[in-house]
Amino acid sequence: MPDIYDKILSLGKRRGIIYPSYEIYGGKTGFFDYGPLGSLLKHNLEEAWRSLYIIKEGCMEVVTPVVTPFEILKASGHVDKFLDVIFTCQKCSSSFKAPDILNKEVTLPEAGEAIKKGITCPECDGQLTAEEVHLMFETSIGPTKKQPAFLRPETAQGIFIDFYNLYRFFRQKLPFGIVQVGKGFRNEVSPRQGIIRLREFSMAEAEIFFDPSHKDHPRFSQVKHEQLHILPAGKKDIKTSLQEAIKNKIIGNQILAYYLAITQKFIISAGIDAQKIRFRQHASTEMAHYANECWDAEIFTQRFGWIECVGIADRSAHDLQSHMNATDADLTAFHRFDHPHKEKKKLVKVKMDELGPRYKDKAGFIKKQLESMSPPKSGDITVVLDGKSLVIDPSCYDIVEEEVSLEGQHFIPHVIEPSHGIDRILYCILEHNYQEVEKEGEMYTLLSLPYKIAPIPVGVFPLINKDGLPQVAYDIEQSLRQQGFLAFYDDSGSIGRRYARMDEIGTPFCITIDHQTLTDDTVTIRDRDTTQQERIKKANVKAYLDKKFFSSEKRF
Ligand code: ATP
Ligand code: GLY
Repeated sequence: MPDIYDKILSLGKRRGIIYPSYEIYGGKTGFFDYGPLGSLLKHNLEEAWRSLYIIKEGCMEVVTPVVTPFEILKASGHVDKFLDVIFTCQKCSSSFKAPDILNKEVTLPEAGEAIKKGITCPECDGQLTAEEVHLMFETSIGPTKKQPAFLRPETAQGIFIDFYNLYRFFRQKLPFGIVQVGKGFRNEVSPRQGIIRLREFSMAEAEIFFDPSHKDHPRFSQVKHEQLHILPAGKKDIKTSLQEAIKNKIIGNQILAYYLAITQKFIISAGIDAQKIRFRQHASTEMAHYANECWDAEIFTQRFGWIECVGIADRSAHDLQSHMNATDADLTAFHRFDHPHKEKKKLVKVKMDELGPRYKDKAGFIKKQLESMSPPKSGDITVVLDGKSLVIDPSCYDIVEEEVSLEGQHFIPHVIEPSHGIDRILYCILEHNYQEVEKEGEMYTLLSLPYKIAPIPVGVFPLINKDGLPQVAYDIEQSLRQQGFLAFYDDSGSIGRRYARMDEIGTPFCITIDHQTLTDDTVTIRDRDTTQQERIKKANVKAYLDKKFFSSEKRF
């Protein structure tokens, strides 16, 4: 019996939504194509996400390259820590992620122990070996002098390394959020979960930069009563309000909690069944190298059970700090005090009568360097002259303590990151909205998609193909297209079949032109979910759809 996953893939292929890539060459696991309707659906989902994050939340979007030089991902920790422990069978050569076999995250030595205790290949019972592999796709920059690079495993790094420009764009004020929607690449080990585990997938990520001394969110009060189904690490799952979760220190801070709330709101408005969402906290052994607290929004699916669709992480200062360590870029923000702080500070005071005769025309340059630095606790002071280090004789300066007035201080902003896997969310939307309905003894498929993401919002049909009805229908379709509604004209097959074809791809409304249209300029509009038809004036069709699409709860 085909399960719902098979049914969705079959619908996906039949109607141009999603299907495996490279099929005529035998296919490659981990890659899927979006067909004509799938592309519209994906576009609509991403636009809905953008409208939440950019218009409602006030973030700004950037576009950064996919090809990422080695040194960036070395600095971020991905080269050394973005690793999976895998088992490989010596007999049939199949590979498996260790957690999939052992049902928990493990280190390489723990995987070795499991082999010693007798686990064998789940496919052929062969002998296993364990190793750590990194999941990034390697590439190189330049056709001849090849510089090592990777295809980005997340869009986030492109944002972090631009922090200095972005901070200036936001006029040096925190908090601010930057989003990026684009492809991420992970060379997953033998992906066996179809569209759930891809090697090339779409991510919608937001990086919210904030001052760690202000972990309150200005709009937390708007979400504090939201109820979430949460599964704290190592504990039983509970239903709780965000307010309670913060009070009981289950969720670390308000900003993180706020993004859990809007993640839930977003996926529900995108069509996910509210009863099939939970937020699971990562145990410290499971957490990505960059995170110090992480919650996954998991969605329940029939074949795969709970799957992670959104990762919401507190990345603290990890990434900006790492890129500062690796470069000489200043990725700090500045906090201006309300009133200058008076502070005692040790300063280097240059004795020009000693420095001048020794360094002649370079003395002014050296003085400037010396007086801008904080004196070391012990040892010599070194400056850079003509690209070389130069130790300055202590007789050339005094170290004095003075009271200085501090206008503010530099700090490294922290980051909260909601990271959405578009393909997984999209699959879950299809699954949760897939219905089989019986009509006159026949089974039909219906996708009850939210209006805003339905690939085709409206169908237009002539009841029969004569008496001038097709021309009227065609004119309505064209007029709707010119006014921004992607209308679809269809005149083939019975009217019942045409409705069924539109239901199957989730089209919310179908307009039919009949003989009465010719006499009184009215048309019928059929509602996908109720199957009820209303007769309205042809001239009011656009206003009718505007009202349905822009003021209905079925949009966002
Ligand atoms: P998993 O544990 O399933 O491997 P992950 O913890 O590696 O996922 P993240 O690194 O948090 O995932 O990535 C952010 C989001 O990107 C995930 O919530 C998921 O929706 C999506 N994602 C990650 N890996 C894949 C993949 N191989 N195919 C499709 N989507 C993915
Ligand atoms: N940016 C989140 C992740 O890739 O894990």
